Amino acid sequence: MTTTSAPVSTLALLLLGQSSDLVSERGVDCPGVLPPASDPDLVERATAAKAALGDSVFILGHHYQRDEVMAFADATGDSFKLARIAAERPDVENIVFCGVHFMAESADILTGPDQRVLLPDLAAGCSMADMAARDQVDRAWATLREAGLSAGTIPVTYMNSSAAIKSFTGEHAGAVCTSSNAAAVMRWAFEQGQRILFLPDQHLGRNTAVRDLGLSLSDCAVYDPRLPDGGLTRSELTDAKVLLWRGHCSVHARFTTDSVAQVRERVPGIQVLVHPECQHDVVLAADFVGSTEFIIATIEAAPAGSSWAIGTELNLVRRLASAHPDKHVTFLDRTVCYCSTMNRIDLPHLVWTLESLVAGRAVNRITVEVETAKWARVALDRMLAMPGPSARD
Ligand code: 13P
Ligand code: SF4
Repeated sequence: MTTTSAPVSTLALLLLGQSSDLVSERGVDCPGVLPPASDPDLVERATAAKAALGDSVFILGHHYQRDEVMAFADATGDSFKLARIAAERPDVENIVFCGVHFMAESADILTGPDQRVLLPDLAAGCSMADMAARDQVDRAWATLREAGLSAGTIPVTYMNSSAAIKSFTGEHAGAVCTSSNAAAVMRWAFEQGQRILFLPDQHLGRNTAVRDLGLSLSDCAVYDPRLPDGGLTRSELTDAKVLLWRGHCSVHARFTTDSVAQVRERVPGIQVLVHPECQHDVVLAADFVGSTEFIIATIEAAPAGSSWAIGTELNLVRRLASAHPDKHVTFLDRTVCYCSTMNRIDLPHLVWTLESLVAGRAVNRITVEVETAKWARVALDRMLAMPGPSARD
């Protein structure tokens, strides 16, 4: 008699912690010795390694990074500003990107072939970026083609997407956008065609379409990649001016209109400032909406004594609160919420990356395959050539 064992699903193993999700983890090995977080000399070690590397290294830090990492950044910014800085530094041999995987990929695409982009921890991915896979987007495009709609549809992809999705966008006459220039890029897209396929963040797409472009909610339809034809009928596909990919940020999706109502009740006169990755009703309930760079500029310009509830990642909110003790700055939600993948980059990983470079080893290099990079660069360059820079420029 033969026996067959029931197949164990990958999901079951993942939940039991006995397997790994290769897409989201992208490898977490640290060849060589990763210093323990308890090492009391980490700051000295990072300082010494950075000094030894001199001009050969440039450290970029996204606003969601930990303070211990930001202390070593040569430039900080939102994802638009960091992409632009990377593109403007052809002289630097090594860019250490303290941010997440899609940002490091973009930096690699925008820099020369001899420049290296290193991500201190390869597990620093982005759950939103992982919500749009290239094969899913190709299928969505095939659906649009069969419906006779692909010719008039311009893909716009948020920076928070893989290089493969940026490449798709470049190949199909579209452009990348970030949270600081989404309105300008969507306006440009409507000059090129009649419809936008917005990837992968439905909230940024909807908020920009309705708040900035004056479209109505009924002009937008959500395309669910897990359903046949995105779960849309032919007339829903045809009538939509903006097809919103069903993706979201797990950090910003936590904020609700209840969070807004509660903080307004707790602190009379408080102003609510949120990132456009928040849900549409939260954005409508807020006083101000903008990218991380906009959030910083708004708090810097605010009068002493003013009160602010901020709906974005906690590292940034805490840094703003301690940099502005004359203002009352608080997190919009009462529960703590870091971006777990941004937080993967810590001082031990930065020390390991820098010391490895000193020893002549470039670890965790991010390299985008040539053909993918070619079209992704087209989409990134279209964005960089457009007006709509960061609020602080
Ligand atoms: P910014 O483009 O505002 O820097 O935001 C990036 C990000 O990942 C927000 O979740
Ligand atoms: Fe991705 Fe959200 Fe983290 Fe930004 S905050 S990197 S969108 S998971």
